[in-house]
Amino acid sequence: MSEIRDPGLWESGKRKIDWVKGNMSLLRSIEEEFLASKPFAGVKIALSIHLEAKTAYLCKVLAAGGAEMFVTGSNPLSTQDDVAAALVHDGLNVFAWHGATDEEYHRHISMAVSSGPNIIIDDGGDLVNMIHNEYPELIENVIGGCEETTTGIIRLINMDKAGQLKFPMMLVNNARCKYLFDNRYGTGQSVWDGINRTTNLIVAGKNVVVAGYGWCGKGVAMRAKGLGASVIVTEVDPVKAIEAVMDGFKVMKMEEAAKIGDFFVTVTGCKDVITEKSFYNMKDGAILCNAGHFDCEVDVAGLKKIAVETRLARNNIDGYKLSNGRWLYVIGEGRLVNLAAGDGHPAEIMDMSFAIQALSAAWLFKNKGKLTSKINVVPEEIDNDVASRKLRFWGLEIDTLTEEQEKYLNSWQV
Ligand SMILES: NC(=O)c1ccc[n+]([C@@H]2O[C@H](COP(=O)([O-])OP(=O)(O)OC[C@H]3O[C@@H](n4cnc5c(N)ncnc54)[C@H](O)[C@@H]3O)[C@@H](O)[C@H]2O)c1
Repeated sequence: MSEIRDPGLWESGKRKIDWVKGNMSLLRSIEEEFLASKPFAGVKIALSIHLEAKTAYLCKVLAAGGAEMFVTGSNPLSTQDDVAAALVHDGLNVFAWHGATDEEYHRHISMAVSSGPNIIIDDGGDLVNMIHNEYPELIENVIGGCEETTTGIIRLINMDKAGQLKFPMMLVNNARCKYLFDNRYGTGQSVWDGINRTTNLIVAGKNVVVAGYGWCGKGVAMRAKGLGASVIVTEVDPVKAIEAVMDGFKVMKMEEAAKIGDFFVTVTGCKDVITEKSFYNMKDGAILCNAGHFDCEVDVAGLKKIAVETRLARNNIDGYKLSNGRWLYVIGEGRLVNLAAGDGHPAEIMDMSFAIQALSAAWLFKNKGKLTSKINVVPEEIDNDVASRKLRFWGLEIDTLTEEQEKYLNSWQV
């Protein structure tokens, strides 16, 4: 049971999956363990994460653990049709295609949810939202789930506060082996990969405006600096703004930054970060993109409305001419640029994030019925296990505390 664009594309998808697998040593070790222990025997897992090769390999690892997989995408532009075909070729159920309309995207999420999953693996909360809102009768099958990203976690916490979250969720994003590397170094590299391959323009000497100086924003700003840009940060949190200043960046309001920016990257998880107010002040040729989870950070619909002329400027870049004669360019329709205009984070980074996902899902199943809270942090031993394996695969050794040192660190008397 699947709904994908073209099953015939599987060979190209398989090549992509084999390539990332070769660079995901953590997941390979977990796959071996899962093959032997089958932690998900008889379990249905619905998964909604950007459907490219690294995600596909995670799906195969979960399937190796005995899970019946129901896979969908997490954004209409991030699904790669050949990768979806390779999963179907391997016998997994997949509902996703690149360029899905809103209606098709909704149908695909709905097909994954209506499988009646026992575990949900979500990225941004689409599966969790749908099962609560449209399939409440299926909630009783759900043991719990894992959430991949910051925006999804904010939503889960809000749901829980409102007493609306009906099953336990693991905050995968908040594990140290996730956000410290994926959000910072993963987003930092893949955002510039997406921008560079799509625009083919120089970054050195340009003004780059990064909206949001959280874990992702820090990575995007750091790599922009490395490419030779002059970096400007916009923030709403005074502490993060000070951090940006001390990291050597200019800080100002978006309406001021709008006048001088050549590239704009929003990565706040908030909405309406760049709107009409700023569009008219921007320089001719300014390039706008978003790396936050949802496409509401740059008001692309508002830009469309005020444009006097539009054109496809280059593959995946839409041009909008304003009444002042200036052209503004938006990459990937304002959807997360590293996935809508690239292949997402590097494999070695997703190796850590998805190792946390796989081990958290297994932990969740092992603790079925025992969790008292709906919001659960990833246990420290999973974080430490992932970090230790990573160091081992890199051939690096670190010191361990002696008994005396442990005693010293755990005491309060001199
Ligand atoms: N593109 C990717 O691959 C990728 C990867 C991980 C996370 N994300 C998404 O990126 C977004 C940011 O994630 P994060 O982990 O950096 O979150 P974070 O909470 O660490 O940082 C967000 C920052 O944005 C700031 N902010 C909020 N509203 C703002 C506004 N209107 N103007 C300026 N700054 C504002 C906040 O003060 C905060 O410092 C989320 O939507 C997350 O889901 C994307």
